[in-house]
Amino acid sequence: MVTVILIDRLNITKSCITYFIRGVPMTFLYVSFYIFWIVSVAALIYMRFETTLLKVSRVRFTKSKKHLKVVHLSDIHISKMFVKTEKIKKVLTSENPDIVVLTGDYIEAPKDEEKFLKFLEGIKGSYEMFMCFGNHEYKAFRRNKTRLQEFADILESKGIKVLHNKSASFFKNQKKYNIIGLEDIRSVRSDTMKVLDSLDMDAVANIAISHNPDIVFEIPYGKVDYLLCGHFHGGQIWMPFKLEFKLLRNDKLCKMGIIKGLHKVNNTILYINRGLGNVLFPLRFLSPPEIAIIYFP
Ligand SMILES: [Fe+2]
Repeated sequence: MVTVILIDRLNITKSCITYFIRGVPMTFLYVSFYIFWIVSVAALIYMRFETTLLKVSRVRFTKSKKHLKVVHLSDIHISKMFVKTEKIKKVLTSENPDIVVLTGDYIEAPKDEEKFLKFLEGIKGSYEMFMCFGNHEYKAFRRNKTRLQEFADILESKGIKVLHNKSASFFKNQKKYNIIGLEDIRSVRSDTMKVLDSLDMDAVANIAISHNPDIVFEIPYGKVDYLLCGHFHGGQIWMPFKLEFKLLRNDKLCKMGIIKGLHKVNNTILYINRGLGNVLFPLRFLSPPEIAIIYFP
């Protein structure tokens, strides 16, 4: 009798141990795995969704109604842009800006050219359009350097002013504005700053457009009042401890924590646009695509 009870107790203890070792931890592992899987899929779905959003930012340098209204678009990355062109056009139509500026990174390869031209056709309006190139244009045409100029010529033939180390004047309310396009700092092939020596002195403001905001360190003190840039995508996919910049970027401003929005560096007012498209991954997290509306005095 005593022997039977002892064996029974031993069996219960054994099954308890087996349940604890194989049962509880395994159940815990399974549950953890499913939670991780569900959270990852949900995060990916959200990040893909965020690429389709469009946030309109407003930057007012004046309260006067006699302002110059500029729409700033950047980093289109047409092969990985998921904001509908109609959505962008709708903003442009309702804002009715004086000019639209684009600050580089439109195509990844020559094959994207047609799609980008179609996009430009879709956002065309009565406003003048100015643009500069980004590092991705230089990369796309790295095998045939004359193709970059041909691309610029095609854009010019569509009525877009390509400011490749060039400036143009724009008049509004009897005021003259210099719009200056500076070559991408990482792709420089000429004396980028030479254009700043020949600016009209009677302009009320020198507004420069360039792709990489690090160019602000090259601009001679006081030569440019406002600098509009893109390049960082606002981080595109937010990570703790700014890992997205530490792992993928090597630019000076990033290291200073200047990655998006409005700043003053080297006596130049700098606006860094988060851009519309995506690079590497077709995903964004806590950095939705942006159109900036800027009011200049
Ligand atoms: Fe970009």
